Amino acid sequence: MAAYYSDELINEIIASNNLVDVAGSYVKLKRSGNRYVGLCPFHSEKTPSFQVSADKQLYHCFGCGEGGSVIQFIMKIENLDFVEAVKFLAARANIHLPEGNEKASDGEFFRKKQKMLEMYVTAARFYHSCLMDEGGNIARSYLAARQIDLSTVTHFGLGYSPAGYDALYNHLKEKSFDEGLMLESGLIRKSEKTGKYYDFFRDRVMVPIFDIRGNVIAFGGRTMAKSDGMKYVNSTDSMIFNKSKTLYGLNFAKKNCSERLILVEGYMDVISLHKYGFTNAVAGLGTAFTPEHAKIVSRYTKELIICYDSDNAGQAAVMRALSVLSATDLKLKVLVIPDTKDADEYLRLKGAAKFKKLIEGAKNHILYKIDRLKQEYDIENTEQKIEFVTKAAGVFSEVGNEIEREAYIAETSAETGISEEAIKTEVNRISYKSNNAAPKRTYSTYKTAEEKQDESVFRAQAVLLSLMCGDITVWRYVRKETDESLFDGSPLQAVANDIYSYSAQNKPPDFSVIISKTEDETAKKLCAALTSQQDVENPLKAAEQIIDRLKTEKQKQLINAAAGEGNPAKLAEMIKNLKK
Ligand code: UTP
Ligand code: MN
Repeated sequence: MAAYYSDELINEIIASNNLVDVAGSYVKLKRSGNRYVGLCPFHSEKTPSFQVSADKQLYHCFGCGEGGSVIQFIMKIENLDFVEAVKFLAARANIHLPEGNEKASDGEFFRKKQKMLEMYVTAARFYHSCLMDEGGNIARSYLAARQIDLSTVTHFGLGYSPAGYDALYNHLKEKSFDEGLMLESGLIRKSEKTGKYYDFFRDRVMVPIFDIRGNVIAFGGRTMAKSDGMKYVNSTDSMIFNKSKTLYGLNFAKKNCSERLILVEGYMDVISLHKYGFTNAVAGLGTAFTPEHAKIVSRYTKELIICYDSDNAGQAAVMRALSVLSATDLKLKVLVIPDTKDADEYLRLKGAAKFKKLIEGAKNHILYKIDRLKQEYDIENTEQKIEFVTKAAGVFSEVGNEIEREAYIAETSAETGISEEAIKTEVNRISYKSNNAAPKRTYSTYKTAEEKQDESVFRAQAVLLSLMCGDITVWRYVRKETDESLFDGSPLQAVANDIYSYSAQNKPPDFSVIISKTEDETAKKLCAALTSQQDVENPLKAAEQIIDRLKTEKQKQLINAAAGEGNPAKLAEMIKNLKK
């Protein structure tokens, strides 16, 4: 992992980006002693479980378990990798990253990416100005006819790509963009026959696609012709654009969707929804809903309402999206739009108030699936009734909540005359089968005595390591009294090795740098152990006590191991030593 950034540099970047400020720009934080608390940005909640420790510069959410340093915070919230997060924070603090600190190829990649983003925003501005110019008359009337007003046009940065063949090319050339990069961007193509450059998007209404931070990363271009073969032409994936990880409108919706998010099919649906005040709407980009999408969505909201087109293709896509989403713990609902083809048309014809009612009446995904099955089978026919109930049992087996499951079973039983018992048996049979096929982790909070013991040892180890990093005297003392083997077998072994082998003379290792480089699960657990830790008055004394405790623990472990080996002499010797 990014070993080419020195610890000093990472340290400087962490020190210049106070986590309270950084996290505070995404989450409203309230001070409580030396801690700050707020609603967790990584899962949805009503009461705050997200805490930032100002002095430790760590965050932890005891609701969802997320935790880490400012680097991990940015990685998660901005969806960046380690290197990108370091760059992001360096830029935020106006720290120049010397190029020698990057792999040559990586620096080049980053610069190229920046240049590409610049090209896309230049193109977006160009298209927008073309829409506003005289040449954009027809496109403007097209939008007006679709009731897309000027403020909506501005908000979404809509534009028009001129009908000639090289308007954008000339504009980009004028702005000194490199032709190779133009070709790579997909905005410009080169004719094999003539060798001439030409625009990819021509004579279309342009919809810029943004990433979560509001950078333009792609375009969708809609034809204004009624019977053109291709309604939309879209940017292909590039170094800045990955269709399967992008949701159109999320940059706008991200602030308004903590309760629920509406997922629609088209750009135009998103635009309409936002215009009518439903600012929590996003769309996929004309391709299937992916597990990556699901992951992103569950980071921003707790309830997803799928509101795809009402035609068969749309409803089939709902089923596929639901199956992808079943891996999340999102609350899932489906809104089937009556009478019209999509959300955009519905809003234009029936208005916002009626749409709001539809949202409120959206069915949960189980009932939606049952409704679909009902349409497929005629339950007056015995054979079809059996099929229906069997399929329904399959759907019910997805329901985790037993009460909810019972209620559905009762309803289906009443409807079909098949006994609740029989349906239940079938549901259980299916659950048993699927549980054994892929063991699912249960979210039980019950812990065995052993697990509790492990946790308390982990906590002691975590505190010891953090004390070592807080004070060079403690660091020296612990190293004199113990060695890394105290951490053998612990998840903190690698972290301990780092801290023990640290070689600077006068200052202790930097804990937040170490956490930043620690593997995700361990970092989370470390932060959980440390953010709830009270300040220690006498660190040296505390370290001494913890060492005692950990040594005893270690001996107990060895004794257990010896007992397992069945060597009574060795065992007796050890117990004798323990008592000393
Ligand atoms: P729709 O045909 O429903 O488009 O396709 P729309 O956004 O509602 O547009 P209008 O209202 O007819 O103008 C849904 C999405 O599928 C993708 C686009 O992302 C579109 O928004 N799509 C559709 C394409 O990529 N290409 C196409 O030719 C059609
Ligand atoms: Mn549509």
